[in-house]
Amino acid sequence: MENNTPLASLDEWEMDILKRYPDPSNIANEKAVEAFRDYEAETRDTVKEFYRLNHQYQSYDFVIDKKNEFLQFNKKEMPIWNAFDFLNELVDDSDPDTDLDQMQHLLQTSEAIRNDGHPDWMVLVGLIHDMGKVLCLFGEPQWSVVGDTFPVGCAYSDKIVYPEFFKSNPDYNHEIYSQKYGVYAPNCGLKNVQLSWGHDEYVYHMMKDHLPEEGLYMLRYHSFYSQHRESAYDHLMDDHDHEMFKWVKLFNPYDLYSKNPNQKSWEELQPYYKALVKKYLPETLKF
Ligand SMILES: [Fe+2]
Ligand SMILES: [Fe+2]
Repeated sequence: MENNTPLASLDEWEMDILKRYPDPSNIANEKAVEAFRDYEAETRDTVKEFYRLNHQYQSYDFVIDKKNEFLQFNKKEMPIWNAFDFLNELVDDSDPDTDLDQMQHLLQTSEAIRNDGHPDWMVLVGLIHDMGKVLCLFGEPQWSVVGDTFPVGCAYSDKIVYPEFFKSNPDYNHEIYSQKYGVYAPNCGLKNVQLSWGHDEYVYHMMKDHLPEEGLYMLRYHSFYSQHRESAYDHLMDDHDHEMFKWVKLFNPYDLYSKNPNQKSWEELQPYYKALVKKYLPETLKF
């Protein structure tokens, strides 16, 4: 029987990204460099199994099906604050390393952005960027909610983590989807490209009428590591994407490296965030 939930928690995937892309401010630190070198050796079987499933099942047809299912937003309607409570149900008891619940990660990210004086819509992006993980509570398996994202409908890049697992994907030997450009034209722009399904695409569609385009790029492509870290898909990007990816790259370190042990309490922060949400978002959101 297939195990659809190999990860002890969704954070396990994020911890794994940190091993691949260690905090550059710690890079001189011997341990971090070593951890990076030993990436393959140290990667837990659960993470490997998670990527095996993700790469096997994220095909072009799968993405289209999931979009048809979830982008109707007919599952639930609730204020964003209920969604955060909902999200916190994802906290698992099996992983002793996970000391932060999902809401804490979101606040750490948004507060770090706020402390650096970025525009308030970017602070809001920090707060909501992982809200799409509520997909898990609609019964979606982990490999369909988190994980690095990548284009489907064209050849999978070998710059994506564990590229060998794509051999089990039905598109791997597809006449068109296995080609460099697949169903796309050279430099057609990401707006014409289907990315693997997950929490990024879902939250982007939820927010697309409410935030500036720069913020929408951050939401939609924050897990697209093979592009924003490895530039593996320049051949599909257009000039506008390159311009906008400056913002995606600006956002990424806040997502990965903002861990403040002296974080203010939610009680203290609440008035600011209530006002921020009110400024940009409607009373309730559709999921
Ligand atoms: Fe995320
Ligand atoms: Fe995140």
